[in-house]
Amino acid sequence: MQSPAAEMDFHAARALLEWQMEMGADEPIGEAPVNRYALAVEAPKAARDVPPASAAPPTEAPVRRAEEVDRLAAARRAADASADLAALATAQAAYDHCDLKKGARNFVFADGNPAARVMVIGEAPGRDEDLEGRPFVGRAGQLLDRMFAAIGLSRTAPDAETALYITNVLPWRPPGNRDPDPQEIAMMLPFLTRHVDLADPDLIVLMGNTPCAAALGTRGILRLRGKWTEAFARPALPMTHPAYLLRNPAAKREAWADLLEVKARLGG
Ligand code: URA
Repeated sequence: MQSPAAEMDFHAARALLEWQMEMGADEPIGEAPVNRYALAVEAPKAARDVPPASAAPPTEAPVRRAEEVDRLAAARRAADASADLAALATAQAAYDHCDLKKGARNFVFADGNPAARVMVIGEAPGRDEDLEGRPFVGRAGQLLDRMFAAIGLSRTAPDAETALYITNVLPWRPPGNRDPDPQEIAMMLPFLTRHVDLADPDLIVLMGNTPCAAALGTRGILRLRGKWTEAFARPALPMTHPAYLLRNPAAKREAWADLLEVKARLGG
């Protein structure tokens, strides 16, 4: 008979694992539970902690560093070889070194009009974006659409002057919507850099901490927001993320001031 684990699909297995972690399990030890009361008396601690003389020296750290270098080099090669946005999307979707890909339902590349003068860079897909395969389609995305509509920009506009182009630092949803980690950001940065080069916007909006970490190498969005800087060799304005604005409506006033900055910079 097949074990229940063997019948389980990836998403069910992940949901089970997340539940176990919420219950406090923090370390995988073995396939089956062990009744430690029934075990023979353990060896004294000193004897347990001394590795046998023949034990190999630890090699994990250097190997991991080498793997990271390879993953970055592979990302750079794939991104740099992409001649247009369609090729870049294909190359990024095919990139197999980011574990987030295994847990995601969809690859989320971009939305809107690539000819737009304004490119918005968000953090990573959430649940709704993962289901739909498009960035910013959940509640935060709807707020983002309303915010930019207020200065006359829309992702559905056909002309570059009033259009918006939207992407994220990561194209795959992190489990449980956790923050992207620095390795994931570093791995996706060559793709994001090429994405900006190919779309060639006049200015960039960095929505939240993750795009600031990726593009500016720093975090602290409440300090950075509203101050023009340079990212990917063009003007960039950090703004608070619409998800933050949903939780902190009082911050919408500052976000409005930032949107007016964007409008003024576009000359409108
Ligand atoms: N938040 C983001 O940063 N990006 C999305 O696509 C959705 C929510």
